[in-house]
Amino acid sequence: MELTIQVEQVTKSFGKKMVLNDVNITIEKGQIYGLIGPSGAGKTTLVKMLVGMDKPDAGMITVLNYNMPNLDVLQDIGYMAQSDALYNDLTAMENLKFFASLFKLKKQEQKQRIAYAAEVVNLSDELNKRVSAYSGGMKRRLSLAIALLQNPSLLILDEPTVGIDPELRKSIWEELFRLKAEGKTIIVTTHVMEEAEKCDALAMVRDGKIITGGTPTELKNLYHVDSLEEVFLKAGSAQS
Ligand SMILES: Nc1ncnc2c1ncn2[C@@H]1O[C@H](COP(=O)(O)OP(=O)(O)OP(=O)(O)O)[C@@H](O)[C@H]1O
Ligand SMILES: [Mg+2]
Repeated sequence: MELTIQVEQVTKSFGKKMVLNDVNITIEKGQIYGLIGPSGAGKTTLVKMLVGMDKPDAGMITVLNYNMPNLDVLQDIGYMAQSDALYNDLTAMENLKFFASLFKLKKQEQKQRIAYAAEVVNLSDELNKRVSAYSGGMKRRLSLAIALLQNPSLLILDEPTVGIDPELRKSIWEELFRLKAEGKTIIVTTHVMEEAEKCDALAMVRDGKIITGGTPTELKNLYHVDSLEEVFLKAGSAQS
């Protein structure tokens, strides 16, 4: 078993509030790993640390054999933040070109990757619009395209399908499965149980702790229920 990510005894506080409390997770290469949990549970705080945007107060995070935070590993991580970090005054194409230029891609490869990423999120015909004229869902889609640009071996997607219609959501998930089949590792945070169902492994975060985890089937068996929705409710109420 090859590990892509190891999080050991990570804690993090903002002021007096402990946002992550002794978090331990391991993520295998080639998995789609889901982080689920209520709003404010600590999911975004955790994924930001996986990308190296923030540092734990205590504990250790290893990503692709690097101790985080580490700048070298960034070339190999595609990150889609929960809040879109786009240049509103530029067109979508200009945004894509800008981000592509940050990665060490050759001109021809840049062009191909931009065409591919725009296609995955169904924005190929909208690339000449300014981002300020984009809808919320289109901005999410553009952010996802940017995360896919450099063909990273690890994708970290913070609520990637919020504001995206069911048809496109389905085709995005098909693409995630295809990337997984190529051996890529994918981490998603989600509130959508139907998406959690598609993950190989899940961790449920609540009040900064991992309260339970496993494959979707393991979790349903553990809590003697038929749906992840019920696992979510049962695991949550067992805590409080
Ligand atoms: N920079 C910050 N300064 C202070 N508090 C913060 C900061 N970032 C996050 N928090 C707090 O940490 C807690 C966890 O936030 P986080 O964004 O990780 O939750 P989440 O699980 O991603 O929620 P959601 O599902 O709504 O995205 C919240 O109480 C939040 O207010
Ligand atoms: Mg979040």
